[in-house]
Amino acid sequence: MTPIRVVVLDHTAQTGGAELALLRLATALNPVEVDLTVLLFDDGPLVGMLTDRGVRVRVRRLDPRVGTSDRQAATGWAAVRSLGRALPFVLRLRRELRLLDPDVVHTTSLKADLIGLVAGRSIRRPVVWHVHDRIAADYLPAPVVRLFRVLARRAVTAVVVNSRATGRTLPRVRSTVAYPGLAADQIGPDPLARAVPQPPVVGIVGRISPTKGQREFIAAAQLLARQHPELRFRVVGDALFSEQDYADTVRRRAKEGALSGRVEFTGWVADTGAELDRLTVLVHASPTPEPFGQVVAEAMARGVPVVATAGGGMDEIVRPGGGPVRGELVPAGDVAGLAAAVERLLSDPVAAADRARTAWSQVRRDYPIERTAAVLTAVWQRARGSVPGPSGAPGRTTSAPRSVPTSPTVPTGEPPVH
Ligand code: GLC
Repeated sequence: MTPIRVVVLDHTAQTGGAELALLRLATALNPVEVDLTVLLFDDGPLVGMLTDRGVRVRVRRLDPRVGTSDRQAATGWAAVRSLGRALPFVLRLRRELRLLDPDVVHTTSLKADLIGLVAGRSIRRPVVWHVHDRIAADYLPAPVVRLFRVLARRAVTAVVVNSRATGRTLPRVRSTVAYPGLAADQIGPDPLARAVPQPPVVGIVGRISPTKGQREFIAAAQLLARQHPELRFRVVGDALFSEQDYADTVRRRAKEGALSGRVEFTGWVADTGAELDRLTVLVHASPTPEPFGQVVAEAMARGVPVVATAGGGMDEIVRPGGGPVRGELVPAGDVAGLAAAVERLLSDPVAAADRARTAWSQVRRDYPIERTAAVLTAVWQRARGSVPGPSGAPGRTTSAPRSVPTSPTVPTGEPPVH
C-alpha cells in the first residue's frame, strides 16, 4: 500500500503546546504508512525543529491580522475585513495544495481549521480537524464557538480532539481522542531514585499567559513564602502571542513582600525536561479549563509530584476514571487551595514520592507517542477516499469515523466519564 499523503496545516511556527505535540507526532509517524508535509502559515522556531528531525516543511505566510482572537474581531465589520484579507491566502493555499496533492488535509490550529477547511474542500480533499482548544465561550467569542460547532458537525471529514474534555466542547460531534503523546526522551528514571531538590523548589512551566495562571501561581507563592522561608520558586517559560503586559505584571508581583528575591524567571527554555527535574513540586495553575495540559503529563513522566487546577483535560490526567489519583487537584482560581496542596506534598515527601511513582508508571502506559501516531494514522486511513478525488473515485461517506482500536471514539456531549 502506498503511504497516505498528509499535509498538516498550522497557522503558527511558534512553539505552543499544539506545535510541540505536532513535532513529537511527526517524528513518531511511520514513513511507510504516512508521507507527511507540514505547511505553516508563518516562519518561526518550529520550522527548524521540524527540519532537524527530517520532516518536510513549507512556509506560506498569512497576513497576521487575519482572525485575531479578540472578541470584536469575531463579529461585524472586523470579521468581514478579516475574511477579505484571508481570501487571497486561501486561493494561494488552494494552488499549493493542488501541487502537494494530499490524500488528507489535517489542520491543527483554529485559524488553520477554517482556512484549511475552505481550501481543502474546494479541491475535494478530506479535511481532518485536530482540535487542541476547547470550543467554548469561556475561551472563544460566542459566534466563533457556534461556527466551529456547526462546521465540525457538517463540513469536516473527521474530528480529532486532544482530550475527552475537549471533545465534550463539540456537542453531537463524533470525535476521536488522540492524546498528545510522550516521547521516550521525556520519560525519566524511576522516581524513587530521584534526587529531590534541596532547598525545595516549586515551579510552573509553560507559556506566560493569563490562561496558564502564573498570576495565581505567584499569589499562592506569596502565601507559601511567609510560612516557609526555605522555599524557592521558578517560573519557566516566556510570553508568546502578544501577552507581554501580563508577563510584566507577574514579574512585578513576584518581587513583592516575602517573595522578593526568591522567584527565578528562566525565560523560554528548549529543554523543559531538565527544568522539571529541578522541581520538588510542579504547579499547574490554569484558571480556565486546560484542553489537555502536556506539561502535567510530562512532569508525571519525570516523577515530579503535581498540583493542578481542576477542569478540562486535567481531570483525565490527574484523576483518571477508575484509577488512583495521580496528583493534587484544586478548584480553578483557588489560590489558597493551591498553596495548601503544595504544603501537603512538601510535608509528606514519602507519600508524595509514592504517588509520583504510580503516576510515572501510568502516564508512560497511557500516553505513548506511538499510540498517538497509530490513532492518527487510522483516522487518516479512514478519511482517505471518503471524498471523491479528481478521478471521481469513491463517494463521500456520510458517517464520521467510528472507532480506532487504540483510543476511544467518544460521541461527545455525553456526561463526563470519571
Ligand atoms: C494546546 C492546549 C494544551 C494541550 C496542547 C496539546 O496547547 O492548550 O492544553 O496540551 O494543545 O494538545
